[in-house]
Amino acid sequence: MTAPAPSESAAAPSAASPVVQAVGLEKTFLLGTNAVPALRGVDLSVASGEWVAIMGPSGCGKTTLLGLLGLLDRPTAGTVLIDGVDAAQLSENQQADLRRDRLGFVFQFYSLVPMLTALENVAVPMQLAGRSTREAQERAQALLEQVGIGQRAGHLPSELSGGQQQRVAIARALANDPALVLLDEPTGDLDQASTRQTLDLLSELNGERGATLVMVTHDVKVARAASRVVHMLDGKILHEEARGEDGSFASAPGAGEGELPTVNR
Ligand SMILES: Nc1ncnc2c1ncn2[C@@H]1O[C@H](COP(=O)(O)OP(=O)(O)O)[C@@H](O)[C@H]1O
Ligand SMILES: [Mg+2]
Repeated sequence: MTAPAPSESAAAPSAASPVVQAVGLEKTFLLGTNAVPALRGVDLSVASGEWVAIMGPSGCGKTTLLGLLGLLDRPTAGTVLIDGVDAAQLSENQQADLRRDRLGFVFQFYSLVPMLTALENVAVPMQLAGRSTREAQERAQALLEQVGIGQRAGHLPSELSGGQQQRVAIARALANDPALVLLDEPTGDLDQASTRQTLDLLSELNGERGATLVMVTHDVKVARAASRVVHMLDGKILHEEARGEDGSFASAPGAGEGELPTVNR
């Protein structure tokens, strides 16, 4: 009944590490001879089970940050740690394996493969991870059912509404049971009803399955579904708000009065 497992804590160092951590992250793009600083020193730590929303005006670096956290691009300076492991220490192949096995991505415009059915879109990442076609398709069907569109499994993306395509994209992001799901404006292109459904689905994923979510959004109502809201401006984190026990948001200590920054550009 009470068999002790003395090696357990020592064997699980990642339990204490943030799922993803950015330290002094900088990214400068070169456009011809022009240097465009997209990120100018970002520190962010996301614990297992958190749902973090990233907000900020267009061009402030949200997508760039998400891409760096997801190892889709390399920082100009600073470090990204996944489960406490410095990504820069990994080879390209190791990074690709990590992306496939530990991370899930949901992009703003779903980015489903147009000539594959919903089922095939969800099955592909599992086949790439070495599952048999049959196994991958069975699990893909189960995932599509979980996101509420099992009956559309045989449809092409062009035969689905925006909200339905986003559900397929979310199912695909979950294919390999990722530790971390990165979402870029997941409701940016959806009507109100589909936005609501997508948020309900994300709540369920985060609450019941314990998935860790980092989600970019420019919609305050969407952000407030998260457990923490990070506000960015001009390549930096301006301040953060954490949800209190009563469900309301308050600024993190030292973060001013917590009003949303008004930015005109
Ligand atoms: N591949 C790129 N090449 C050059 N500049 C880029 C590139 N990606 C982003 N930028 C620039 O970096 C800044 C941040 O962009 P981005 O991260 O897309 O902002 P956001 O997602 O907050 O709208 C912008 O000034 C943008 O023009
Ligand atoms: Mg963006």
